[in-house]
Amino acid sequence: MKDTFLRACRGEKTDYTPVWLMRQAGRYLPEYQAVRTEVDFLTLCKTPELAAKVTKQPVDILGVDAAILFSDILIPVEAMGMHLEFSDKKGPVLSDPVRSKAAVDRLVIPDTEDSMPFVLEAIKILRAELTVPLIGFSGAPFTLATYMIEGGSTKNFLNTKKMMFQHPGLFHLFLDKITSTVIAYLLSQIKAGAQAVQLFDSWAGVLSPEDYREFALPYVKRSISELKKETVPIIYFVNDCAGLLSEIKKTRADVLGVDWRVDLRDAVKKIGKKFVVQGNLDPCALFLPKEKIEERVKDILWKGEFARGHVFNLGHGILPETPVENARAMVEAVHRFSER
Ligand code: CP3
Repeated sequence: MKDTFLRACRGEKTDYTPVWLMRQAGRYLPEYQAVRTEVDFLTLCKTPELAAKVTKQPVDILGVDAAILFSDILIPVEAMGMHLEFSDKKGPVLSDPVRSKAAVDRLVIPDTEDSMPFVLEAIKILRAELTVPLIGFSGAPFTLATYMIEGGSTKNFLNTKKMMFQHPGLFHLFLDKITSTVIAYLLSQIKAGAQAVQLFDSWAGVLSPEDYREFALPYVKRSISELKKETVPIIYFVNDCAGLLSEIKKTRADVLGVDWRVDLRDAVKKIGKKFVVQGNLDPCALFLPKEKIEERVKDILWKGEFARGHVFNLGHGILPETPVENARAMVEAVHRFSER
């Protein structure tokens, strides 16, 4: 197995900078679309052979240095007892959003083996077949809470912040329950064979530093310290992280994901030499001409040199409209320009 990605996560010297893309298995790939015409998204997530098949697609097509399990951050939310659907127009829809103590009390902390065996099965298939490391993942507690309270995607997170500000005790109780779920879920993924794990805190960037410190950070810290009992690298990604870096660096993550809105060198200056960084090309930069993509890749690689280590990635997920040849050119450029 090619272990460049794992070595970089541990801050070890590598022959080149490894690269993968958040949301790399997905709609921008015609090969993914072909599978999706046969099955709906949730069925795909719950059919281990198919989930494994689409997990491997970007490894073969783009030449990335790691695979990320094909699933969704909302799979454990369904296992906690909520009804989940994906609509083509609205994205995820969770009926009966969590807005009361009774609703929080009704949720269970699921046993992964019992309620999400397909995730563990997909991991086992992949470990037997992959030539690159496999990343498992979960949503981080605050981000999962936003979906469960809003019932889906949202613009201003009003219902979440209402619970946070009007019923902070209840919000903490809720986050505590989600955290126990996240920990158990990721530990089972590691046990099944995941070689690194990423916590996606996609919406923590909507919090002020003070609120992040109270409502997101403690639960991320607890998750990471439990996961540290295992030896796999832990990646923590906060989208829109610029204003939160001095808080984020209080976690014991091995790798910090950085979105594109912050200069990677400035981010490294703020977080110091303790962390490997992951990022941070603007996903829309993949719509530039190839020479311009290469210029940006070079610039980010140079800035990554100031960190303890660097895993190249986009600053957030790849967009469905992205031309595949541009994604491939980016991966190739990262490898070519970083060769040591
Ligand atoms: O990275 C990968 O390739 C692995 C698979 C993966 C998916 N979702 C597949 C997916 C991962 C790691 C996720 C994480 C995820 N899901 C996040 C965190 C990352 C981020 O982007 O911030 C979030 C917030 C979700 C929730 C979610 N899932 C939304 C809001 C949507 C609808 C909007 C969208 O991007 O499509 C999804 C659907 C989803 N998850 C798709 C895929 C491939 C598209 C479903 C389809 O095929 O129609």
